[in-house]
Amino acid sequence: MKDKKLHIITFGCQMNVYDSDKIAMMLKDLNYSVTDNPADADMILLNTCSVREGPENKVVSQLGRFKKLKEENPNLILGVGGCVAQQKGEELLKQVKYLDIVFGTDSLPALPDMINTYTQTGKRISQTEIQLSDIYKFVEVTPDYETNNVSDFVKIMKGCNKRCSYCIVPFTRGTEVSKPSKKVIEECKILAKSGVKEITLLGQTVNSYGRDKKNEISFAQLLEKINEIEGIERIRFTSPHPKYFTKDLMDAIYKLDKVMEHIHMPIQSGSNKVLKEMRRQYKSEQFLEQIKYMRSLMPQLEVTTDIIVGYPTETEEDFNLTLDFLKTIQFDNAFSFAYSPRPMTESFNLEETLTLDEKKARLNKLMDLQKEISIKKSQNLIGTIQEVLLDNDSDGRDNNQYSGRTRGNRKVYIDDIKDKKIGDIFNVKITEGYIYTLKGIII
Ligand code: 5AD
Ligand code: SF4
Repeated sequence: MKDKKLHIITFGCQMNVYDSDKIAMMLKDLNYSVTDNPADADMILLNTCSVREGPENKVVSQLGRFKKLKEENPNLILGVGGCVAQQKGEELLKQVKYLDIVFGTDSLPALPDMINTYTQTGKRISQTEIQLSDIYKFVEVTPDYETNNVSDFVKIMKGCNKRCSYCIVPFTRGTEVSKPSKKVIEECKILAKSGVKEITLLGQTVNSYGRDKKNEISFAQLLEKINEIEGIERIRFTSPHPKYFTKDLMDAIYKLDKVMEHIHMPIQSGSNKVLKEMRRQYKSEQFLEQIKYMRSLMPQLEVTTDIIVGYPTETEEDFNLTLDFLKTIQFDNAFSFAYSPRPMTESFNLEETLTLDEKKARLNKLMDLQKEISIKKSQNLIGTIQEVLLDNDSDGRDNNQYSGRTRGNRKVYIDDIKDKKIGDIFNVKITEGYIYTLKGIII
């Protein structure tokens, strides 16, 4: 079989990064190897995101870029997968005449067959059925899987059983299905064998792991099992839901040495009224108690979050409650987004009371406050000794700088790495602190 080149463009969350990696793994069997250059490619795949309108709009503009390549090379295969594919399906084929394949989020395992069918028949193809949970099969990582990453992801579940009023994910990713724990552990072991030191477990509500199955272990028990795997030095997970952030789980995080002292848990709003309207199923006080308890066990714990600003019913008073909440809780970082109405969601039909400019103004105000907090917390780390995993994140390499991550997940730049290599874990004294990054020297 002729060697072929595959170019994948990934939008959105870490789940998509994981899925794109697994697409590349599966398509190796069809003789595709990955290229960074779309002009060299025999196949271009876009793995898309529709959580907000911005990334969704990028898909069509990206596809426009490849129209010319397709005209020059009619054998080029162009495909779209991920959440936009799931949402639009067949309609995308109608809208973009030069598109060949549309594969929904649950059709990932079927992609090699779809490609074979397309190459044999030349018939454009769309497959977007959401699979029923009892027949859903995850793409399996094969024992010969190789990666250069020292930090990698493991998807432990797919879908989401929550119905947050603003969120399109349950519609694009279907209901929750947990990957059998045996498979999760096997996958972690395969990664460890390939040199991976740090694993991030992925799930839309990662800590509800196992609840969809009769005889499955809990998320806390899964952490315990992964903690025993030789070669894995660090365990992270994203994103937990406050509803399932139980005392058992908090105690496990504290007790298990390989589980890092960093929690990324979305709060979304500091107003209980808005939280209720969003159907988040917790109050801000509960969230605060959980973080307080965790900090009492691990004072060095770093906490980050997601926030939506300008929900249709968010008043000035509600927004101020969110600002107050940030001041009280002192997150290390917050990812904040202006509310974006999404089709199919419950809040889609709510009339927006704020203009885009008003939403942006609130967003800027919140971001300014968080920046102040983040930089203060960063500077508090100056002079401390932090355990760092040197990774091959290429960012900053142009300046001959290396970088790694602390246990709390802060990025640290190091000018002189001495005899250390990527994948090593060692102590660093922090010398400078910025909003998102630190600088340090090896001691
Ligand atoms: N508008 C704005 N932000 C959203 N998010 C999810 N849905 C929307 C929406 N409709 C944000 C949430 C979530 C993050 C991944 O994206 O904060 O945690
Ligand atoms: Fe969306 Fe809520 Fe599920 Fe998160 S928990 S993916 S915000 S529905």
